[in-house]
Formats: sequence, structure tokens, C-alpha cells
Amino acid sequence: MSTATARAHANIALVKYWGKRDAARNLPAAGSLSLTLGALETVTTVRFDPKLAADELVLNGAAAPGLRVTGFLDLVRAIAGTTTRAAVETVNRFPTASGLASSASGFAALALAATRAAGVTLDARALSRLARQGSGSAARSIFAGFARVVAGDDDAWAEAVDDPRGLAARARMVIAEVGGGAPKLHGSRDAMEHCAATSPLYRGWLECVPRDLAIAEDAIARGDLAALGELAEANALAMHAAAIASRPAIVYWQPATLGLLAAVRALRDGGVPAWATMDAGPHVKVLTDAAAAPRVALAMQEAGASAVTISEAGGPAEVIA
Ligand code: PMV
Repeated sequence: MSTATARAHANIALVKYWGKRDAARNLPAAGSLSLTLGALETVTTVRFDPKLAADELVLNGAAAPGLRVTGFLDLVRAIAGTTTRAAVETVNRFPTASGLASSASGFAALALAATRAAGVTLDARALSRLARQGSGSAARSIFAGFARVVAGDDDAWAEAVDDPRGLAARARMVIAEVGGGAPKLHGSRDAMEHCAATSPLYRGWLECVPRDLAIAEDAIARGDLAALGELAEANALAMHAAAIASRPAIVYWQPATLGLLAAVRALRDGGVPAWATMDAGPHVKVLTDAAAAPRVALAMQEAGASAVTISEAGGPAEVIA
């Protein structure tokens, strides 16, 4: 086969990946844990074509000369033992064009489509390891529901987290976008390296990750959304605290971000299950359950979100053609 199409979903980390052990191999300094989201989907087609002189990338209908894509396809070519160039067509089926992170779903879909198009079938762990080399968070998007990254000294991949109480099926993520602000100033790749190199709080951040992973996994095992949510909000704030303390500072939040965080606390004070997490941008994602999700979404709109999406947990990366 020389053409394949794959679908993968984005994921939101509940215990963040923030810091590398080895930048060249894109090895994370610690583990992480996420929920894959059905509402944020990337569909990618890869066609290996001996007539092509160079790789080509079309992203959402427009040519996008992509160095990161060629570097990634070189990894796939090395696995498959080929030098043939590829045409890649990728579409982010995201609810809005707000700059919600797409590298996780993007590299997960690319890893699966490109290996299949090259005639190689990898198991989930090997696929996850490959996706990680495109983007650390992409390792997790190979899996449905909750996924954890296992970070060894010399390797890292993701795997599904056992969810015996079906917590992922009950959970919802309300994605509250903060628009109209400055474009994203610091890509996560450079920002986490800058944080590791300059933030006096980076070491403290890394120290809390193993403990937070254990708490999150215990909460999932018990089906305890409140324990998972509390942990996720605390972990995100610790990551942002380390980033903010970088010199110069990395501040992803805008005024509206703080308004949304306050609204999440107010919901909780009123007995609504809602816990916030934030990534390398101003948006706020709120972990909640199916019954409370519409109320949380409304509260986010009223608190100034420019767009709000309710997502269920998403499925694994899949070949669809
Ligand atoms: O996968 P990357 O290199 O885009 O880094 C992701 C970083 C965060 O989104 C902030 C945290 C995470 O674990 O997804």
C-alpha cells in the first residue's frame, strides 16, 4: 500500500508534560497523563510517491511547507527502509480555528497514516514512541480515554490507563476559548526548555509530577472524578507557576483566563463538579461530568469565553482508509 488515511484525537493532559530529558530525541523528563477528546479530531492522508522530489504538506486545504513533517517522515522512511517522498494532506476537524493545540492529534494521525502507507504495521507502543518524536503529547493520542506516558531513562511511550469504573465515559471536558488576544507567544517546545533552563521553580515542578501521577491513577482506579479534577487543577497551576517564574517570564494567561478560572471556582463553591486545566495558551479546559457540562459551558460563556465546546472522551488513533 502506498496511501493510507488515519484519524486521531487531541488530548488534554491532567498531569502535564512540561520539560525534556533529551531534546534531540524528544524524551520527556517525567511522565504525564491525559484524557483523549472526541471533539478535536485530525484526519491525515499520506501518499508515498516515487515521482515526488520533496515531501509536500497541505494543512486545512493550504500548502504548508513543513520542516517538522519532513523530519518526522524521515523517521518513518528509516523504519520502512525507503527513500520515497510523500504527499501529506491533513485536516483539523476542530470546532473553531482558535489555535487550539493540534500537534498531539496531528503527529498521532501522521505516525499511523505514514507507517501504514509505507507498508509497516506497528503495535500501539511502537506507534506511540514514534508519535512522541513528533510531539511529546502525541504519544498519548494513540489511545482512547485516559493515557499515561511512561518515561524511562532512555525511552518513552504512552499506554492506556486502566479505567475499571468507566470514568472516561462519564467525564466531559468543556473547552472554553479565550479569543481576541495576542497570538501565542511561546510554542510549548521552546517554552519548556526555557523554563527548565531558567525557572527557579522548575525543579519543584518536576518533583511533584510522580506524586501527582500516582494520585491521578488512584482517582481513576476508584472512579473518583472529584479527586482527579482537584489534582488536575493543582497540577496545571504548578506547571504554569514554573513557567511564569522563568526569566524572562512565560505567561500564557490573559485577563479573560483569570476570569474563567474564577468562574470555575465559583461553580465549585455552588456544588457543581468543575476543575480547570490550561496548556500553552490562554484557553481554559474544564473537567466535569455529563450532567453538569451544559451548566459549566453556560458559565464559561457568561464569564467571557469567546467559544465553548463540550467534548466527550475520544477513541484511539485509527486507520480509516
Ligand atoms: O507535545 P508538545 O510538545 O506540544 O507539549 C505539550 C505541552 C502541554 O500541552 C502544555 C502539556 C501536555 O502534556 O500536553
